[in-house]
Amino acid sequence: MKRIYFPEPFRIKSVEPLRMLTNKEREQKIAEAGYNVFRLAASDVYIDLLTDSGTGAMSSAQWAGVMLGDESYAGADCYYKVQEAAQRIFGLPYIQLVHQGRAAEKVLLPILLQGKKYAIANMHFDTTRAHVEIAGARAIDCVVPEALDTTSYYDFKGNMDCARLEEYIHKLGAENIGVVIMTITNNSAGGQPVSVANIRETAAIAHKHGIPFMIDAARYAENSYFVQQREEEFKGKSIAEIVKASFDCCDVFTMSAKKDAIVNMGGLIGCRDKAIFELIKQRTISFEGFITYGGMSGRDIEALARGLDEGIDENYLKYRIGQMQYLAARLEEGGIPFQTPVGGHAVFVDAKKLLPHIPYYEFPAQALAIELYREAGIRACDIGSYMLGNDPDTGKQLEAEFEFTRLAIPRRVYTQSHLDVIADALLNIKERAAEIKGFKIVEEPPILRHFTAKLMPL
Ligand code: F0G
Repeated sequence: MKRIYFPEPFRIKSVEPLRMLTNKEREQKIAEAGYNVFRLAASDVYIDLLTDSGTGAMSSAQWAGVMLGDESYAGADCYYKVQEAAQRIFGLPYIQLVHQGRAAEKVLLPILLQGKKYAIANMHFDTTRAHVEIAGARAIDCVVPEALDTTSYYDFKGNMDCARLEEYIHKLGAENIGVVIMTITNNSAGGQPVSVANIRETAAIAHKHGIPFMIDAARYAENSYFVQQREEEFKGKSIAEIVKASFDCCDVFTMSAKKDAIVNMGGLIGCRDKAIFELIKQRTISFEGFITYGGMSGRDIEALARGLDEGIDENYLKYRIGQMQYLAARLEEGGIPFQTPVGGHAVFVDAKKLLPHIPYYEFPAQALAIELYREAGIRACDIGSYMLGNDPDTGKQLEAEFEFTRLAIPRRVYTQSHLDVIADALLNIKERAAEIKGFKIVEEPPILRHFTAKLMPL
């Protein structure tokens, strides 16, 4: 077996016991949950791969920071620390704290989209799309076509399709476009990286047409690691230099700190323009709280200030991406199809290929997620037609571009043995793939149904 991994640059000081249910108990729990993994109690899950967001393990230095957190309403010590760290790492002069990524979107996007009709991104994450729409605009995705073929190798499947971006700008009119967004890494395409060359080219196109350029920075560190490994200009450069080069191009950024800053809660907005920053501060005060805490408690701010630097540590990133590559190598060896090459935070298993007999309207990626729970108590989720839902006009089930079962790996939480359990479970499932049946929905709310719907096996 090919072992492409870098060992843990830490040891474990505190452990959290996990419950291991029997097969029979799991059958019962998932049936009681209406075959919806979001309805399972976390204590009935053995390995939780629902998300990498807010689920990371903080370091001893971060936990020590929790005790030192300054809970003053205004001007707390930790506020100055997070300002210093974020200004130094990202190079933007104005930084605003908020409580998570979607709060940053809620504060910032209406400012950029006022009187505008469109936002164009390599790919919008769901909450970003929602906030574009709430601001009265439409969200357009413009990822490179290489992203759509899950079997082909391409270094930067997260990239913006710049030729298509130019076409959109000409067709829709630059004056109607409020913002061009680059999501790094590109979550919806499979945690796929974006090259710095592509960030620069996209920013140049936006700026040529007078459109602000924004980075959705949730996984800025993982993206920079891929750039260091794959982009000629950046071989041998430090992660800090690559982060700087990426953010040098942007006018604004939003960030969910729950990913690469390895905290359980937190978010940031960065900005270069003083007038825009004044508007950001006003909206933060109404929605989040006073500007020096932005919806966070002091202890969480202190942990965030420390996490920003831990997230760009090169040995940590080698281990982190190494875990993804180890799991991917095991799956590849066992013939499990997934978005290739593996991305930064999750393995996106191609359920359409693994379960070709299940049509999109019987939810192959959901069927695989349920099977993973039955097999080994693993909780993954559907990123496919089940999540996409129905056409709001016709009420008919939409067909998603991909049927992915996402195995999102929390940071610094699971060991290599856990990764082996995941790989072995998928290999066992592959053996009986032909017998696995699809699902039908028996109860669903009109929007965001995947969180609460109930299903039945066919
Ligand atoms: N942008 C990206 C690229 C994200 O992946 C997320 C969250 C957000 C914004 C919103 O951040 O959750 O802090 O409000 N992604 C999580 C996930 C939920 O599971 O992929 P948030």
